[in-house]
Amino acid sequence: MSNHELLYLSQADVEKLNIPIKEVIQAVEEAFKQKAEGYAEVPPKPGIHPQKDAFIHAMPAYLPKMKAAGLKWVSGFPGNPKRGLPYISGLLILNNVETGFPICAMDCTWVTAKRTGAATAVAAKYLAREDSKILGILGCGAQGRSNLEALTVACKHLEEVKAYDISEKNLKRYVTEMTDEHDLKITPVDSARKAVEDSDIVVTAGPILRDPTPLIEASWFKDGGFACPLDFDSCWKPEAMRSMDKFCTDDAQQLEYYRQQGYFADIPKVYANLSEIVSGEKLGRENPNERIMSMNLGLAIEDMATAKLVHEKAKKVRIGTKLSL
Ligand SMILES: NC(=O)c1ccc[n+]([C@@H]2O[C@H](COP(=O)([O-])OP(=O)(O)OC[C@H]3O[C@@H](n4cnc5c(N)ncnc54)[C@H](O)[C@@H]3O)[C@@H](O)[C@H]2O)c1
Repeated sequence: MSNHELLYLSQADVEKLNIPIKEVIQAVEEAFKQKAEGYAEVPPKPGIHPQKDAFIHAMPAYLPKMKAAGLKWVSGFPGNPKRGLPYISGLLILNNVETGFPICAMDCTWVTAKRTGAATAVAAKYLAREDSKILGILGCGAQGRSNLEALTVACKHLEEVKAYDISEKNLKRYVTEMTDEHDLKITPVDSARKAVEDSDIVVTAGPILRDPTPLIEASWFKDGGFACPLDFDSCWKPEAMRSMDKFCTDDAQQLEYYRQQGYFADIPKVYANLSEIVSGEKLGRENPNERIMSMNLGLAIEDMATAKLVHEKAKKVRIGTKLSL
């Protein structure tokens, strides 16, 4: 019988650790830097699709300098909210980099929400105008919340959030909660167009659709704006994406992999990976009028860098349940 143990962290355990978003942003930015230096193994994520527009993805990554290795097994099922369940669920396993043994298994909801917001914040640091004041949020769910939280750290001049959701109930709850949490004006709007127009930064976070019928037109998006779609090309029309002066992504190799799977039928040529921008290999924003988009697909290096923080803190404050292998 094995006498190896791993630490199991439930969703409540991970949340209890209360790791500040600032630390997650730093860890995610460091992961992008290490990727640029060649210190990251992050193959494109394979997936299975038990229902239309649903996915379960395997996301492995290894960051040798951080001694972080592991796998996230994450699902997104668009029918879940109707069942009273969250869209995203899953598990993350960290491995010992010397022996390969699993050392920690955790619910991945918190990590997924925070690291995605952190990646948006890192992109905004280099690609958004420094004086960005208005943020448009389309899709007021978990990502709508964590992206706002992270952007308050990266964008010091934010004053207002224009929030849109097809669900009136979700929108109302978002406005109440975000008004309580942030010192910002949170304005509900009744169309996607109103959330995009005049916004300096736009984050779209509705469901990912294999056959999208996008709404957002090039003319709605402000010159000098920064856009970060988290829902692939489900919201932005091809001409709107082509109107960008710089079309970036968190990983061009992964974007190409998705194209081969039938997503992203009509997108512009990639200018740069985020890692190239963070490392200074390619220029980020060069003038206040540039229209810039970063198509962030979500990378397992973001998960492993964040999960490492979670595991270290859990050990320090002795939270979690030890399980025998
Ligand atoms: N790129 C990444 O790294 C990454 C990471 C995690 C999640 N995601 C994606 O982000 C998206 C949001 O995830 P979540 O966990 O916040 O989901 P969620 O279910 O918590 O929130 C989604 C919200 O979008 C709303 N919505 C649905 N259709 C809409 C539409 N057409 N216009 C406006 N609002 C609409 C829903 O009512 C809901 O409030 C998903 O597509 C998910 O796959 C991306």
